Amino acid sequence: MVLTKQKVFRFTFTHFFAILSSVMFIVTVILTFKLLTNDHCNCPRKETVIQYVAKPKHYINKGYESNHRLAVLVPYRNRFEELMEFAPYVHDFLNEQKINHDIFILNQVDNYRFNRASLINVGYLETKSNYDYIAMHDVDLLPLNKNLSYTYPYQPFHIAAPHLHPRYHYNKFIGGILLINRGHFGLVNGLSNKYWGWGLEDDEFYVRLKDANLNITRPDNISTGMNDTFKHIHSKDRKRDTVKCFNQREVTRRRDRQTGLHDVNYKILSYKSMTIGSAPLTVINIQLICDRSITPWCNCSEDKTDKRKS
Ligand SMILES: *[C@@H]1O[C@H](CO)[C@@H](O)[C@H](O)[C@H]1NC(C)=O
Ligand SMILES: *[C@@H]1O[C@H](CO)[C@@H](O)[C@H](O)[C@H]1NC(C)=O
Ligand SMILES: *[C@@H]1O[C@H](CO)[C@@H](O)[C@H](O)[C@H]1NC(C)=O
Ligand SMILES: *[C@@H]1O[C@H](CO)[C@@H](O)[C@H](O)[C@H]1NC(C)=O
Ligand SMILES: *[C@@H]1O[C@H](CO)[C@@H](O)[C@H](O)[C@H]1NC(C)=O
Repeated sequence: MVLTKQKVFRFTFTHFFAILSSVMFIVTVILTFKLLTNDHCNCPRKETVIQYVAKPKHYINKGYESNHRLAVLVPYRNRFEELMEFAPYVHDFLNEQKINHDIFILNQVDNYRFNRASLINVGYLETKSNYDYIAMHDVDLLPLNKNLSYTYPYQPFHIAAPHLHPRYHYNKFIGGILLINRGHFGLVNGLSNKYWGWGLEDDEFYVRLKDANLNITRPDNISTGMNDTFKHIHSKDRKRDTVKCFNQREVTRRRDRQTGLHDVNYKILSYKSMTIGSAPLTVINIQLICDRSITPWCNCSEDKTDKRKS
């Protein structure tokens, strides 16, 4: 038998491709198997995962049927124990009501006095495009009654109503937990930025809502009362910063037509995504910037006149 050159060529050529295909097939099978086993391994999962990200991560936990999306805005500083209880609880509470939501911890990292109102303004701006309503939410107030509804508010909806809140019972009180849609919050120019230290910023916000002819609504089908509608987890030994210095007392009693959403001055230092228990959330580290010519009381230690005890 004589093999022509042509026959030899054809033989090796065919075999070369047969071998190549076999090798490729085997490699593919091995790779696929590896990927599958990696996906399905029972690697131990940590309860609390903390990862650092450059930009906010929007979870929108579940695709509930509603088109509305709630940003839970939580002004925050140094209250880790309360946050550990707050986040999983509120996350579960909202899931039970099928509310599309994400939780944002507005962490004030500068050394000025706490400014709840400015933090909420920042939270609103930073979550702008993704959510059509916000909850201004204290970290130390947990809703107990399942009738407290967090659905989209066509009018500002004050969940922590004076007849239900464990501590504040005056008619114009709108602190604690307030739901408001994006349009309305923008309409009233957000909150005043003049409230450094504890209190009164919510009373000023009440006047803003009234001036804009918005009707504050409150839960009305609640059979529980002041003692059992909310759990107040504020520890008794935590002191509130009620100091008044410079002309703070006079200024913060008045309606502020000067400052608000449009001029809140701040820097975002970082976003951190984390999970507490079952609750995913985003910590926004916020450095507020104080204009001492407008609000010198953001730092009382510079007040030489010592009106602090007045
Ligand atoms: C507050 O004022 C004191 C006294 O002037 C100063 O040492 C401190 O750095 C100031 N704090 C801030 C955050 O500016
Ligand atoms: C009353 O409670 C029900 C059940 O939780 C809720 O669906 C409804 O929205 C509540 N009504 C008002 C006005 O809050
Ligand atoms: C608030 O209620 C009043 C009286 O019921 C009504 O005339 C007004 O239109 C309401 N405001 C808004 C913004 O819906
Ligand atoms: C919830 O609302 C319903 C009416 O909508 C009422 O019958 C019921 O008592 C309420 N439950 C609580 C715990 O407030
Ligand atoms: C709430 O609790 C306080 C003391 O714990 C009690 O004096 C008061 O009567 C209670 N109020 C209601 C409405 O149950």
